[in-house]
Amino acid sequence: MRTFWDELALYLEYLKAIGVKTLPKKKAFERFLKLDLSPPPKSLAEIAKEIEGCTRCKLHRTRTNIVLGEGPENATLMFIGEAPGRDEDLEGRPFVGRAGKLLDQMLGAINIRRAEVYITNVVKCRPPGNRTPEPDEIEACLPYLAKQIKLIRPRLICTLGLVAAQTVLATTQPLSRLRGKIHEIDGIKVVVTYHPAFLLRYPSYKAQALEDLKLLKRLYEELK
Ligand code: URA
Repeated sequence: MRTFWDELALYLEYLKAIGVKTLPKKKAFERFLKLDLSPPPKSLAEIAKEIEGCTRCKLHRTRTNIVLGEGPENATLMFIGEAPGRDEDLEGRPFVGRAGKLLDQMLGAINIRRAEVYITNVVKCRPPGNRTPEPDEIEACLPYLAKQIKLIRPRLICTLGLVAAQTVLATTQPLSRLRGKIHEIDGIKVVVTYHPAFLLRYPSYKAQALEDLKLLKRLYEELK
């Protein structure tokens, strides 16, 4: 049987042969998780130290605070949103504004306490005017998310909105195709649902979101 190291050697050889210096987009995130050879960080504090003063992308010019994430280091369940908004940028904490209040209610609906889950975003700095993060910003920030996942090793991830779903699952499929299924990255189950900010704007999608949350809850109980 081929070991991880055999696979890695083959893959590196392949990359070298075709002259690629960065990983291809398709499946990039999962490969990134697997191929990041640096040892997993020892603590969230270590990641916080690394990200301090980050200038890897242009968002550093307009941010107030970096929003790394919050929650227990041994959380079974991780939520991944898109990027901090205005309130999060000011406070340095994820999902504390209106969308965050709705996220709290969504958690309440399935009897999960916010304090027991880890909450973060694909991009750790606020895009100006809350625009969608751009591909170069996502790419620059992905190593931090990979480190958070490698350290926490949640059993289950719930992505919130299209950007998080497409980034984590390394796909361009629409949310409608990704919802209602159990995905997997690096042995971690992934459930996809709508972003709370989207649900604030289009409340008629809340019923579908509740179905996603019920699926999430079932898996959470099984994996806990
Ligand atoms: N929207 C997000 O995607 N993340 C936050 O932290 C807040 C709003």
